[in-house]
Amino acid sequence: MIKVIKFGLKAIPPFFKINTYSSVFVLVDENSRKHCLPLLVPYLPGHQIIQIKSGEKHKTLTSCEFIWASLLKKHADRNSLLINLGGGVITDIGAFCASVFMRGVDFVNVPTSLLAMTDAAVGGKTGVDFLNFKNMIGTFSEPKLLCIDPEFLKTLPQKQMLSASAEIFKHALLQNKKEVKKHLENPFVQATEAEILRQIKNSNRFKWSVVSKDSMDKNIRQQLNLGHTIAHALESYFIAFKKPLLHGEAVALGLVGEAFIAHCFYNLSYECFLNIVYWYDLNFKKPELKELNFNTLLKWMQKDKKNINSELQLVLLEKEGSVTMNNVVSHSQLKLALKFLVDF
Ligand SMILES: NC(=O)c1ccc[n+]([C@@H]2O[C@H](COP(=O)([O-])OP(=O)(O)OC[C@H]3O[C@@H](n4cnc5c(N)ncnc54)[C@H](O)[C@@H]3O)[C@@H](O)[C@H]2O)c1
Ligand SMILES: [Zn+2]
Repeated sequence: MIKVIKFGLKAIPPFFKINTYSSVFVLVDENSRKHCLPLLVPYLPGHQIIQIKSGEKHKTLTSCEFIWASLLKKHADRNSLLINLGGGVITDIGAFCASVFMRGVDFVNVPTSLLAMTDAAVGGKTGVDFLNFKNMIGTFSEPKLLCIDPEFLKTLPQKQMLSASAEIFKHALLQNKKEVKKHLENPFVQATEAEILRQIKNSNRFKWSVVSKDSMDKNIRQQLNLGHTIAHALESYFIAFKKPLLHGEAVALGLVGEAFIAHCFYNLSYECFLNIVYWYDLNFKKPELKELNFNTLLKWMQKDKKNINSELQLVLLEKEGSVTMNNVVSHSQLKLALKFLVDF
């Protein structure tokens, strides 16, 4: 993997000085078109726009067909460039479309949400959802350039900012005690612009350091799934009950629930477990969980891609900066964790 991360839109013109393209396309959704495209346009050569609808429910092969058809109609060729300007949905789907269009054309990611800046646009995973399974169809493919500019965050709704902060805290837990302490001393909602920029750079650097050692997700990259077994089940559950949780909101609960298991049945200290609960309370308002049906949730967990032979396997925190992987967790242990999430 070649490192191509630059901060600030001023990195775009030098990119076009050393790379020439027959045509340039910018993929947007209605929000990134309205709020972000005007900031990017002054740095771009001549280009054409392709717009899809915003939201996870449009991260589908149908949207891909629309993007590929638009590229063809607008005379794209193998020497064209696609710039993905938007949140994680746009960077995931745009990168996927580019990676297979005419067997692969160059693309640039310009993430505009905090989640995309710190997580989704970093690491070369592209893809779309298929038959209600998240990210079921995709490729590993790297952008020619990942350009991060925090100016875009000025228009991102606060709920989206807060949701992304859960992934940033996950990265802190995987890093070290010092980074975790910073999050406990400063609630994310009160973080200054300078602190958010520091967190973006730190989180991005950390994710890069992990994925660059395991780009194909065979071993150490799997630590990034911390909190995600419970999170994915909660997300699917809430979608089914038409009260969707944002991904990061589910990850925040997943970090708490999985820390409960790590403390009660493995080696995580009481202090570290309590700190994770404290971090949750500092930043999030817990959704109503009283009617959770544990058996339905367990069924969602069994569909997790990390499982082998239908045994539930979790990544668990050992201490700040250290995890154990492939921990087989029983249904009764998971039920206790879910019960804890309802009651804490
Ligand atoms: N490829 C990976 O490794 C990876 C990792 C994590 C998440 N993801 C994917 O990322 C997606 C979630 O990303 P997301 O949270 O950015 O969601 P998103 O792309 O849906 O963006 C959230 C909302 O914010 C809007 N938006 C984005 N930037 C804006 C801005 N600057 N101002 C105003 N509105 C703005 C979007 O239009 C959307 O309505 C999921 O599909 C997830 O699977 C991928
Ligand atoms: Zn995640």
